[in-house]
Amino acid sequence: MSKRGSSSRWYQTQISDPFVKERERQGLRSRSAFKLTELLERDRLLRPGGVVLDLGATPGGWSQIVGPLVGARGLVIAVDILPMTALAGVHFILGDCREPATLASIGVALKSRQADLVLSDMAPNLSGIRDVDEARSVELAETAWETAQMFLKVGGSLVLKMFQHQDSERFLLEIRKYFIRINRRKPAASRSGSREFYVVAGGLKG
Ligand SMILES: C[S@@+](CC[C@H](N)C(=O)[O-])C[C@H]1O[C@@H](n2cnc3c(N)ncnc32)[C@H](O)[C@@H]1O
Repeated sequence: MSKRGSSSRWYQTQISDPFVKERERQGLRSRSAFKLTELLERDRLLRPGGVVLDLGATPGGWSQIVGPLVGARGLVIAVDILPMTALAGVHFILGDCREPATLASIGVALKSRQADLVLSDMAPNLSGIRDVDEARSVELAETAWETAQMFLKVGGSLVLKMFQHQDSERFLLEIRKYFIRINRRKPAASRSGSREFYVVAGGLKG
C-alpha cells in the first residue's frame, strides 16, 4: 500500500476509535491507559497504599492511572529510556531497565519497600520485521521479569505486555511456576488485529 493510503487508513482508524475519543475527553496521556484500567479492575491488582513499579512508562498513561489509586501513602516509580513529563506523586527514573545503574536507582527510590505490582508495557523500537520485533518484545518481557524478581514482594503481581510468538510460549511456561495464578488477557482497547496480549501473573511464590 502507498504511504498516502496507509496514513489515510491510520486516520480513519483514529477518528472511528472510541478509545481515542475517550482518551482526549479524559485528558489521558495514552490510549493504553484503558487497557491497564480493565486489567486492574478485572484482576483486582491494586489497593490504596500500594507500591507500583511502571516499566516503560513514557508518556505516562499507566502511571497516571495507578497514581490516584495508590494515593498519598502509596508509591509509584516510573522508568523509561525516554523522558516523561512530570506527574504529581510519580517518581520518574530516566534509564534503561537492562542497565544495572537503572536497577540501582529503582532500589534507592523504593526506600527499602517492595513492590506490590510490577507493570511492563515496554515495547522495542519497531524494525518493521515482525519476527525480529516480536523476539525483541520477548526479551523486554524477560527483562521485566528479572526486574520483578529483584523488587516484587511475595504475593505481589506482575503485568506484562507480550506478543504471540513461539518464544513467548516458552517464557510463559518458565514463569508459570513462580506464581499462584497466570492469566492471558486481551483488553478491549487492545486492537483486535494486533498480536499483542497481556499476561497477569498474581501471587508471587516465596
Ligand atoms: C507503549 S510505550 C508505554 C506506554 C505507557 N504504558 C503509557 O500508557 O503511557 C513503551 C515504552 O517502553 C519504553 N522502553 C522500551 N525499552 C525500554 C527499556 N529497555 N527500558 C526502559 N524503557 C523501555 C519505550 O521508550 C516506550 O516509551
